[in-house]
Amino acid sequence: MSEARQELVLDELGLLPLWVRRDLVAAERARVAASNDAAASNDAAQPARAETAAAPAEAIAMPAAAEPPPRPMRQTVIPASAPAPAPAAVAAASGSVERDQRAAAIAAMDWEQLQAAVASCTACSLCKSRNRTVFGVGNPEADWLIVGEAPGAEEDRLGEPFVGQAGKLLDSMLASVDLNRRDGAFILNTLKCRPPQNRNPNPDELALCAPFLHRQVELIRPKVIFAVGRFAVQTLLGREASIASLRGKRHDYRGVPVVVSYHPAYLLRNMPDKIKAWQDLLLARRMLATSANRQADTGS
Ligand code: URA
Repeated sequence: MSEARQELVLDELGLLPLWVRRDLVAAERARVAASNDAAASNDAAQPARAETAAAPAEAIAMPAAAEPPPRPMRQTVIPASAPAPAPAAVAAASGSVERDQRAAAIAAMDWEQLQAAVASCTACSLCKSRNRTVFGVGNPEADWLIVGEAPGAEEDRLGEPFVGQAGKLLDSMLASVDLNRRDGAFILNTLKCRPPQNRNPNPDELALCAPFLHRQVELIRPKVIFAVGRFAVQTLLGREASIASLRGKRHDYRGVPVVVSYHPAYLLRNMPDKIKAWQDLLLARRMLATSANRQADTGS
């Protein structure tokens, strides 16, 4: 297989950039330099290769003193003493760099940019089956932030969170503490796209969508977060414990108090637990009052 073809295939497989031992690179450079010298004497007017002119950012710059000939592949040089990582690790590492860059870009967005980024997101395969992305609803300056899990069929159709049966229950829960979805709170989901057949989100989908959630929280700056369901809790708190073991106390997300509660869809199937969700709402309301009093005391 030609080197160019090999590079294309590796790129498709997500295996670039390659990690290559320094001594092998030096030997390869010497070999290519020798053959270039020979070619140069035959064809002095040969133009530079296009891929050299548009070198990818990941490529390591070579020292100016020993300008190398065009390199056949994107290469990252590591010390010869270090073991070369297996291809799977290389793929994961290169993916994580791209993910970090994507997360950093999202973390710098304003509200409108974030809405546009969610609407056009193709980071995971959920974009193929969704009808609408679901960014959230409510007052982006609200004190309360309600964080659910993922859109269901109705939410996917209408582009608004919690509009199905679970949503109706959430609305009446909010009404019980004098809130509604238009002004007292902002309601959003951990995932912005519906998983097919309402299956559970997978870890990769959650990880790829999390930067949107993090940025939404930063921009809304709520005084309290009410997190319903285990995927919301996992993403905000990094905890896998049961809802039962986490509810009833204050948790913290980057300085914002978090109250954990049952998901309304669970409550529809377990009506006796509704009283606990009501207690959780009251706890959140007390936390909000406490933080408001504290701010009044300190004049902030
Ligand atoms: N369940 C959720 O977590 N969110 C919705 O928007 C609908 C159902």
